[in-house]
Amino acid sequence: MEKKVTYRCPSNIALVKYWGKKEEGVQIPANASISWSLSDLFAETTVVARESNDTNLIFNYDGQPKPSFEPKIKDFLNRIAPYSEFVTKHTFEVNTINNFPHGTGIASSAAGFGALALCITDLERMFQPETLEFYQRASFFARLGSGSACRSVYAEPAIWGHHDVVGNSSDLYAVPYTGLVHSNLQGWKDCVLIVDDGEKKVSSTAGHSLLKNHPYAASRFQQAQKNIENILQFMQHGNISSFIELVESEALQLHAMMMSSIPYFTLIRPGTLAILEEIWTFRNETKLPVAFTLDAGANVHLLFPQSIESEAMNFINTKLLVYCKNGLYLCSSTGGSPTKIAE
Ligand code: DP6
Repeated sequence: MEKKVTYRCPSNIALVKYWGKKEEGVQIPANASISWSLSDLFAETTVVARESNDTNLIFNYDGQPKPSFEPKIKDFLNRIAPYSEFVTKHTFEVNTINNFPHGTGIASSAAGFGALALCITDLERMFQPETLEFYQRASFFARLGSGSACRSVYAEPAIWGHHDVVGNSSDLYAVPYTGLVHSNLQGWKDCVLIVDDGEKKVSSTAGHSLLKNHPYAASRFQQAQKNIENILQFMQHGNISSFIELVESEALQLHAMMMSSIPYFTLIRPGTLAILEEIWTFRNETKLPVAFTLDAGANVHLLFPQSIESEAMNFINTKLLVYCKNGLYLCSSTGGSPTKIAE
């Protein structure tokens, strides 16, 4: 018996960052994080499940076998197997594509593991009764592939990690934030300015582990918990300037933690800093609400409300393009849910 399904899953960008794990193998975050999904930067994944007791995996990326990705997918399947009889009784053929060019330094694992987890959760429910709500279970599985991936399965802002002010929050899966979001902070855009498209010097997984003996880890985790509480307030009240200050501070704290790890490392490049300076100058001069955030890389995410899209695009094209590798940037709406493409 063969079953097949296809899902499209957005990537996401964290506003309050996940950096550091309480427990490594099982992907328990040291603090809660919150993200927006990026619906125009997605992975589309087809999974074919065939009944079998062995653990064969066929993995194709962009129509071609990709042996270098296989160990990560195999690890993922091994991690989810204890929770799913379905996984232990099937072999999988996985075909995946990203709609953004490979080698742009954009983390594709969130969208990729999100899409893969959605496919497996969907196939599983044909085989065994559901134990958790569908998206919660998909998020639970995605987390075991890559922590940040568990936030990709929701259209709403996604919160992952236990936090006292978020009633249903969990370290095991992300939950959608269903509280009030003021119109000031809805429908923002994210343009990712590609500063460096090379392989990262230090993977996120290695970076997380450096928080273990980090001198500032405890205060960083506390600060992140506080920032979750604050950002939810700013989102409810539409307080744009406080939102921007918090989001930019989160991005800089993330990179400050990298620079103060032992061994220390940097992922930002000179072009990254030049862009940040340009953003601060532009915001000062125009009073327009443009903000940046960073993930674990050199690229800059420029965030702005849709209402100032033409000014923001003009800013990118006149001031920021010069810092972008091959003049490349990729824009996306925020929000937007995963979709089932075919069965
Ligand atoms: C900087 O989710 O890539 O993007 O769980 O080890 O796969 P693993 O790490 P990963 O870490 C992402 C960290 C970040 C911040 C964030 O997305 O919250």
